[in-house]
Amino acid sequence: MKNKDIINWGIIGLGNIAHLFAKELKLVKGAKLVAVASRSKENAVAFATTYQCPKAYDSYEAIMNDNNIDILYIATPHDSHAELTIKALEKNKHVLCEKPIALRYEDAEKMIATAVKHNKFFMEAFWTRFNPSFRAAFAKIKQGEIGTLRYINADFAFYAEEKKGNRMFDLKTGGGSLMDIGVYPLFLAYTLLGIPKNIYAKSIFHSSGVDTQTAMILQYKEAHAVLYSGISHTSNVEATVSGTKGRINLNSMWHMAESYTLIKDDVKTIFEFPTQEMGYLYEIEECHECIRNNAPQSNLWSHKNSLELMKIVEEVKNQIGLQF
Ligand SMILES: NC(=O)c1ccc[n+]([C@@H]2O[C@H](COP(=O)([O-])OP(=O)(O)OC[C@H]3O[C@@H](n4cnc5c(N)ncnc54)[C@H](OP(=O)(O)O)[C@@H]3O)[C@@H](O)[C@H]2O)c1
Repeated sequence: MKNKDIINWGIIGLGNIAHLFAKELKLVKGAKLVAVASRSKENAVAFATTYQCPKAYDSYEAIMNDNNIDILYIATPHDSHAELTIKALEKNKHVLCEKPIALRYEDAEKMIATAVKHNKFFMEAFWTRFNPSFRAAFAKIKQGEIGTLRYINADFAFYAEEKKGNRMFDLKTGGGSLMDIGVYPLFLAYTLLGIPKNIYAKSIFHSSGVDTQTAMILQYKEAHAVLYSGISHTSNVEATVSGTKGRINLNSMWHMAESYTLIKDDVKTIFEFPTQEMGYLYEIEECHECIRNNAPQSNLWSHKNSLELMKIVEEVKNQIGLQF
């Protein structure tokens, strides 16, 4: 790369998350939004105008050929993550792809193999891994502050309105709770406890075929993770990690927490880590750090991490009978 002080970003798929991301991209030193692509000209131009972006493409194909882009952020529904990531990597771009990395394990494997083949940086946008509160709690837990881990409890649910065009109810694009938000509690159990020995899962399904509720138990040698995702009601969106010497609550909403609470001997201590905006800028900073250091992947959320998490997701899919 010629000038690593400035990193040129492109965004593909201009929906909800693309807006949040573009807003935070502006806060990162050296980040420049140089092109966006939508399936509609109108949306592309409106988005580009809002975020002062010089190029607005009305096709995903066109942005792939823009050689001014260093890294492309894929912000489309899950079913197109694999295809668009592979295309972008083959067009010599680094890629940050929204979670879940893909709908199928084999697609995630292909994405990573393509990144390796073309020697480009590639990361699944698991932003929670870069959240300051999560990072601090994670470090405390790894240092043994709460002893040996025995139990994790984490939920993530919100009420999704059943209206036309809501991708949550569209099986084709990977709708339902598991792939959209169930991956967060699974991420927590995986980052702290690793790959489970056994996985048990049950779901309730919508008539469209998507899961509206999924309850999961991950069993480890000496620990359990009891996890839940839902799109038919709200929940506290809290997580508790319990060990032999105490516990840590990742405070609501835990996946984007601004504090955690350490509870030891009935004494509660709150540690505050206010985020700038919602906290997408931290994953952007990680991409910059890796690209500037010619690192093909992040140490904090590596290719192996994405693949292993996807393997766990795959087993939950098998258990509940969800196929894409
Ligand atoms: N990290 C996070 O916190 C977070 C939060 C929300 C979502 N996400 C992830 O980001 C991805 C997008 O979610 P979103 O909530 O932004 O979705 P969204 O609001 O529906 O936007 C997705 C965009 O993708 C494009 N698109 C391409 N093919 C599409 C299709 N078949 N159906 C609908 N849209 C299509 C559309 O943009 P154009 O019309 O401009 O082409 C659409 O606006 C998902 O994979 C989701 O898991 C992550």
